[in-house]
Amino acid sequence: MLAAALVGAQFVPVDRTNPPTDASLSLKAPAPVLAILERACFNCHSQETAWPWYGYVAPMSWLVERDVKEGREEMNLSEWGSWSEDRRVYMASEIVEMTESEDMPPWFYKPFHADSKLSEDDLNTLKAWAQSLPGAKANSG
Ligand code: HEC
Repeated sequence: MLAAALVGAQFVPVDRTNPPTDASLSLKAPAPVLAILERACFNCHSQETAWPWYGYVAPMSWLVERDVKEGREEMNLSEWGSWSEDRRVYMASEIVEMTESEDMPPWFYKPFHADSKLSEDDLNTLKAWAQSLPGAKANSG
C-alpha cells in the first residue's frame, strides 16, 4: 500500500522551474559575501536554485518546492536590484539576524548541505557587509 502510494506520488507535478533571471537585478555584493550567500542561501532565496536529488522524490519534492516558493517570496536575492535602499538595508540586517540566531539556513537543510554551515568568520563578513551598505547606520545591528 505504502509503496504503491509512494510510486503514485511521483506523478504529482512539481514546479521545479527557475524563472528567468535578469542578471542586472541580482545581488551585487563583495565576492566573499556573495560566496557565503550563494552556498548557504541561494537555493531557497534566489532564482538560481540547484534542485537537489531529493527534490525529485515525492514527498520530499513537495517540501522542497514549498520551501523554495516561500523562501523566494520572503526574500528573493535575484531581485535585489529592484529594491529600495531601505529594503536592502532591512534585508541585510535580517540576513545577519537569521544567521546569527541559526534560524537560517533551516535545521533540516544543513544535514544535506554541509557547505551551508556558516563559521564565525562568515558571520562577521556578513555583518561588516550589512553595515557597509549605503543607508545603513554604522554600528547598528
Ligand atoms: C531550505 C530553504 C532555505 C534556505 C537554504 C534558506 N532559507 Fe531563509 N527562508 C526559507 C523559508 C521557507 C522562509 C520563510 C518562512 C520562514 O520564515 O521560516 C525563509 C525566511 C528567511 C528570512 C525572513 C525574511 C523576512 O521577511 O524577515 C530571512 C532573512 C532568511 N530566510 C535568510 C536566509 C539566509 C541568510 C540564508 C542562508 C544563510 C537562508 N535564509 C537559507 C527557506 C530557506
